Amino acid sequence: MRAWFKCAAFAAEAARPEAEADEFAYHAWGMGGYDADPTGYATRDAFFSRYGEERFSAYAEAVRESCDRNDRILSTASGRCVTEMLLRAEGYDVHCSDLGRPGCLDATRALFPDIDFRELDLLAGAGNADFDAVLNFSCLYSFTPEQADLFFASLRSHLKPGGALILDPGGASDGLISRFLDDVVVPIEARLLRWHLQRRTGKPHVVRRWQQGYRWADADVIRMAERAGFRRCDGKRLRTDLEFQRSFIFLRLMSFLPFLRRVFNGLMPSASMIRLFVFEAV
Ligand SMILES: C[S@@+](CC[C@H](N)C(=O)[O-])C[C@H]1O[C@@H](n2cnc3c(N)ncnc32)[C@H](O)[C@@H]1O
Repeated sequence: MRAWFKCAAFAAEAARPEAEADEFAYHAWGMGGYDADPTGYATRDAFFSRYGEERFSAYAEAVRESCDRNDRILSTASGRCVTEMLLRAEGYDVHCSDLGRPGCLDATRALFPDIDFRELDLLAGAGNADFDAVLNFSCLYSFTPEQADLFFASLRSHLKPGGALILDPGGASDGLISRFLDDVVVPIEARLLRWHLQRRTGKPHVVRRWQQGYRWADADVIRMAERAGFRRCDGKRLRTDLEFQRSFIFLRLMSFLPFLRRVFNGLMPSASMIRLFVFEAV
């Protein structure tokens, strides 16, 4: 595990929420906001085509493989609830939750009227062991090692014995490639972008660097889950270029020359995977 820093160029006056002041607003900002763009919420199809991403389909597939439609499923840290709506549309009994109420919730309810949403802080309090499965996608990375133990204990507390936890820790594992992207490519690009934006707009820009969280190795994730009363029963690597998409240069290269996507992913598989873990509550 190592601390994971991000950096980017911003207009000097652009405000960025502080995690300590409003934790949920900070996370929502990191996701580009949870507001409802009216076009994206016009119909269910418009919703999935505007907000659907490869990783949400991959998450939904993992749930189909591990759960039945009769299972009571709690999705934690569900954000905009895209995976969850994919599954609800197919008849899965998925209940959504997050640290705060996302701004898009009313618009989501207009499309999926029976959606159940509750505010749930995974670092505070315990559940009632009344779910057959718990989902958590792309959230663990944001916790410190001490919080990560509370997080797993909380996930465990919502599950019946034998229930399933399906988890993507968020971000690639620690490794040379992710380190190169985080500590070399992205910081250089941020400086180039600041220079470009200043020239183009004539307004001052700054490079901000902040701790995104932690990059957890597989072994860290498994150890923490086992400490909280889980047993690993499945795992999967899903090919995407999520890490490369953090780099403007890689992204542009891959969009102009699509075959490069295969080349980069083939050469650097550790940076081009979503990691999905399936655990059983023992
Ligand atoms: C990167 S977003 C992922 C959202 C969604 N699962 C997805 O894959 O798009 C991380 C989410 O974790 C939530 N989160 C952060 N800390 C949390 C906590 N202590 N309890 C519950 N949710 C939390 C944030 O509010 C945010 O919506």
